[in-house]
Amino acid sequence: MSGLITLHGWGRERLTEILDKAEGYVASAQSTAFSGATVTCAFFEASTRTRLSFERAAHRLGAYVMGFSPELSSVTKGESFKDTILTLTAIGTDVFILRHTLADAADLAAGWSGRPVINAGLGSREHPTQTLIDALTLRQEFGRLDGLRMAIVGDIRNSRVARGHLIALPTLGVELTLVGPTPFMPQDNPWGVRTSTNLDDELGDVDVVYLLRIQAERGSSADIPSSAGYARRYGMNEERLSMMKPTGVVMHPGPINRGVEIDDATADSERSLLVRQVANGVPVRMAVIAEALEGVR
Ligand code: NCD
Repeated sequence: MSGLITLHGWGRERLTEILDKAEGYVASAQSTAFSGATVTCAFFEASTRTRLSFERAAHRLGAYVMGFSPELSSVTKGESFKDTILTLTAIGTDVFILRHTLADAADLAAGWSGRPVINAGLGSREHPTQTLIDALTLRQEFGRLDGLRMAIVGDIRNSRVARGHLIALPTLGVELTLVGPTPFMPQDNPWGVRTSTNLDDELGDVDVVYLLRIQAERGSSADIPSSAGYARRYGMNEERLSMMKPTGVVMHPGPINRGVEIDDATADSERSLLVRQVANGVPVRMAVIAEALEGVR
């Protein structure tokens, strides 16, 4: 039973293989390759781009998509997570795509259902498809990943996106620096990457500034002075953009908070890859779903 819960342990070859597969899906037409297969999107946390691009990806592979929204389900009548997964399995799910606040929700669901589970964001643990999307987007932009320098800026402590990047991007040769106010820094640094509290010091050295949203829903905002104070020290704006190399780019997994971590001019500039990141969500998720479905055939 495969699926994708974590990129931990994936070597450069394995990562490159899935990126190549995703690249192959970028311009692919609607297919019937997996008609008859059923993919269930079970999202226990809010989502726009992740959920809809997973749905679009499954549909483009010819699979049927069952959408499940806890707020409209028997979860509101007290049905447990376990019983919900068993129910969705019994109805006929070949692969689960799961977003949940619990870090081990995907492992539990895989155990209960016996089906491959794709991690669509688990608490602060990891968001592996976002990492693959960003790797693909960077490879398209620079023609390589090896030797690129990226500053990840913001609420790293609570970010599953940052964790996925820390797990996989160094394997692909990307050099990471973590930047943000001390309360946003991870409590430990098992990755041994550079850290900095001063964004302006880093801008001239990096190819990519990767911005993160403040995870208020995970209790973050209490630790920082104010949105305006944060924007002054860590927000990307035109002045900071001009401090980067001319080839430097800005990324963000979305959703963005304009005026906090990024201003309008930067978000909408030619050097912002935000829209391309979203667009790459479909081919990357096609590659991940196809691998999971190939495993259950
Ligand atoms: C992120 C998430 O949900 O982890 N969004 C996404 O999936 N692109 C980041 C966030 O919510 O800040």
